[in-house]
Amino acid sequence: MSEMAEFTLNGEKRETSVARADRLGSVLRCEFGCKDVKIGCDAGDCGACTVLIDGLPVCACITSVSRIGGRSVETLSGLLAGDETARALADAFLREGAAQCGICTPGMMVTAVGLLRENSAPSDAEIQDALGGVLCRCTGYRKIIDAVRNTGAPIAAADGAVGTSPVRLDGRRKVEGTEIFGDDAVPADALCLRVIRSPHHHAAFRFGDLEGFARRHALDLILTVDDIPGVNRFGVIPGFADQAVYANKTARFRGEAVAAIVGTSQAIAMVDPSEFPVDWTVLPAALETSEAQKGDILHTDRPGNVMCRGNVRRGDAANGIDRGAVQAGASIRTGFIEHSYIEPEAGYADFRDGRVSVFGGTQAPVMNRESLAEILALEQSDVRVVPTAAGGGFGSKLDISWQPHVALAAMRLGRCVRVTYSRGESMASTTKRHPSRISVRAGAASDGRLTGFRFDGDFNTGAYASWGPTVANRVPIHAGGPYVHENYTATSAAIHTNCAPAGAFRGFGVPQAAIAQELVFDELAEKLGMDRLAFRLLNALDNGIPTATGQVFQRSVGIRPCFEALREPWLAALGRATARNAHDANVPLRYGVGLAGGWYGCGNTSLPNPSTIRSGITRQGRLYLHQGAQDIGQGANTVIAQIFAEALGVALADVHLVGGDTDITPDAGKTSASRQTFVSGNAALASGLALRDQILRLVNCTEGRISFAPGQVMVTGVDGTVHRADLSDRALIADPYVLQAVESYDPPTSPLDENGQGVPYAVFGYTAQMVELAVDTELGTVRIDHIHAAHDVGRAINPTLVDGQIHGGVAQGVGMALMEEFIPGRTENLHDYLIPTIGDIPEITTHIIEVPDEHGPYGAKGLGEHVLIPTAPAILNAIRHAVGACPTDLPATPDKVLAAILAAKEA
Ligand code: FES
Ligand code: FES
Repeated sequence: MSEMAEFTLNGEKRETSVARADRLGSVLRCEFGCKDVKIGCDAGDCGACTVLIDGLPVCACITSVSRIGGRSVETLSGLLAGDETARALADAFLREGAAQCGICTPGMMVTAVGLLRENSAPSDAEIQDALGGVLCRCTGYRKIIDAVRNTGAPIAAADGAVGTSPVRLDGRRKVEGTEIFGDDAVPADALCLRVIRSPHHHAAFRFGDLEGFARRHALDLILTVDDIPGVNRFGVIPGFADQAVYANKTARFRGEAVAAIVGTSQAIAMVDPSEFPVDWTVLPAALETSEAQKGDILHTDRPGNVMCRGNVRRGDAANGIDRGAVQAGASIRTGFIEHSYIEPEAGYADFRDGRVSVFGGTQAPVMNRESLAEILALEQSDVRVVPTAAGGGFGSKLDISWQPHVALAAMRLGRCVRVTYSRGESMASTTKRHPSRISVRAGAASDGRLTGFRFDGDFNTGAYASWGPTVANRVPIHAGGPYVHENYTATSAAIHTNCAPAGAFRGFGVPQAAIAQELVFDELAEKLGMDRLAFRLLNALDNGIPTATGQVFQRSVGIRPCFEALREPWLAALGRATARNAHDANVPLRYGVGLAGGWYGCGNTSLPNPSTIRSGITRQGRLYLHQGAQDIGQGANTVIAQIFAEALGVALADVHLVGGDTDITPDAGKTSASRQTFVSGNAALASGLALRDQILRLVNCTEGRISFAPGQVMVTGVDGTVHRADLSDRALIADPYVLQAVESYDPPTSPLDENGQGVPYAVFGYTAQMVELAVDTELGTVRIDHIHAAHDVGRAINPTLVDGQIHGGVAQGVGMALMEEFIPGRTENLHDYLIPTIGDIPEITTHIIEVPDEHGPYGAKGLGEHVLIPTAPAILNAIRHAVGACPTDLPATPDKVLAAILAAKEA
């Protein structure tokens, strides 16, 4: 008989077997149903699984159940049930917008409750100290600090009108730990799937006795390329679908799937993947673009491993640069950046009546359905994708990854099959930010005006295309930044290597490009003896002036107000740095200030980009909004609903959301390229107006506020007269609706010509950021003291959510500048791959600028990508200001900062 441990779980006596010394985290989730305990890494690195044991925060994933006998274990749900502080903290998280995707929130809140029980009024430093072990990839942590510090303050009333900040509609689930993520959704009786992956960067392989292996391990199924009924290929850009579900005889990158095993959880747990019967023949691998251009061809139709190129040309760049009174140039290198969402990929599939249904987190349900139908050789109507909440995405959950494996297995077995990626396989196999090698050269006249600009960038796109074509096309358009360029050439190339595919990650290559461009602008200003902000203001793009692609905006260019918003803090910070450097002349700290600008075109580049939003009213008088714009934490559920409610003329509280289930919700396109507020927002606006029109006609009035009662819709006119219509026996237009409005929006763009001239985007958003920091000249460490972030969002539909996006993006920019680099085979966990912790993010002052866009819903522009574009260049420019040099090989780790200082001294 196995040994049992008795313990208290959320105040109730429990017992569990300790025979196998299982991890407490999985026992709490699987045996006791505590889905509020999240598993982000299963290795003690992320803190998502934090519980209180005898009042102290502990990572449940690295705690053996053998240690809990006689002790008290508390999870978030238990704390909320019995602890007033926890309930007040939940309100504070809602009020401050401290939960975005919500996957880290239970661990964060449990840890904070532990702190608040000991110290009811902690300082910021004490909060940062206590919460230092819990990672959040979305929020930038500052809202979390505010929530913990201000626990107990009330939630201010907000009616949900555009421009106000009601708490997010899905927020309560996140702060109570009841949000359903991919791994939370799986049925208890589902079989488990594990993917077998290449341990080599490039290798030929042959399988051995698969049947014997399956028999020996009591597996239900082994899947390989031979089991794919449709095409063994998927991708996201038309004409570039090239990625294998299972590699066929040759694996092109470390982590590529070659097979999958399916069985009970016990059977799968007993399998050592290294014993899987496969013989590898290691082949030469090229991990850098320079090697790849001389090495083996990964795809026969792509000579030199060049997947595609992009360019934009205007005027004569070479001549313009030479004509300048001064010239400057920079060459930079950036590495892979891992998305590091705290929720690894997870979900399950079911197969019934000839239809496959796939449940899990995604940024693009309809695009996923299209790919799955081709792989599974099914009609699209026989594939259903039902998104769960996504615990972060940032671009990587646009591409399919786990979905085809479970879908194939469910089809073959006629049973539910689940998968949850380990942190290691998530990092090894899913897409990354493109590494880049970029050179920029520019010239400026003696009055400071730019005379010419040249950009050349090579991007390592890994073994498969993913979003590489988007990066190659988008970068040349944005490479010069939001400035006036009469003589401009920008070229790009996306080059295959034997690395994990590089794909979409906040900015699609623009953040890398901005680093080189903004470094060069600082150098030009310095050579001219100009203030760096004045140089940028002089050259800032404006209304009526063509962009590098020849596009002219008449009234929505907002970069100048962004820079203007920084003028006062800029002058103050320069003064502070000068004073501190003079005062602390004998200490190793040197203070610096840097700034950078950025812009980003919202939506697809010169391609159709439609969104459709459906709304309807039932006979019961209930209003539904089918909101297919996936909310991965950024707040689309709330923002799209606010726009819709405003257009319809109802209270936000009257709107009931229906998610992105592909069976019942139309395609709102993918959540990427900062398109949802703008594109889906416009579709929601149109849907709201169309439904309003129907209601007004129904009650025979022309104006008024709409509301609902059981079986009725009412319009209260300006004179107070209430007009009613009975809905209870109206004919259905489309089950279950008696009134319905399905509306679409597709932004106006045009194709670019051979010189990249045209209208690539209907709208750009603009940003300028400023960084104050100190560099330790003996250690090479960088301490960021303050960041100002000015963003032109056209119209802030929900200012708290705008703030949250800015904070989160700035934090990712800090990581990109100072600490993050994914190295295949070496940094495949959150211990070796460092992302910013709560102690790394300084105070952030946001400046929300509203220059309305003519196309945007209520003037709104997109924001999600823009937020990190200027952060890294502003940090590097501040380092250079502080010590006279900065690394050009990112991230700027202390060793590289020291080397740059040394090189500058020797120069
Ligand atoms: S899941 Fe336990 S620390 Fe990450
Ligand atoms: S809200 Fe913290 S990881 Fe998403």
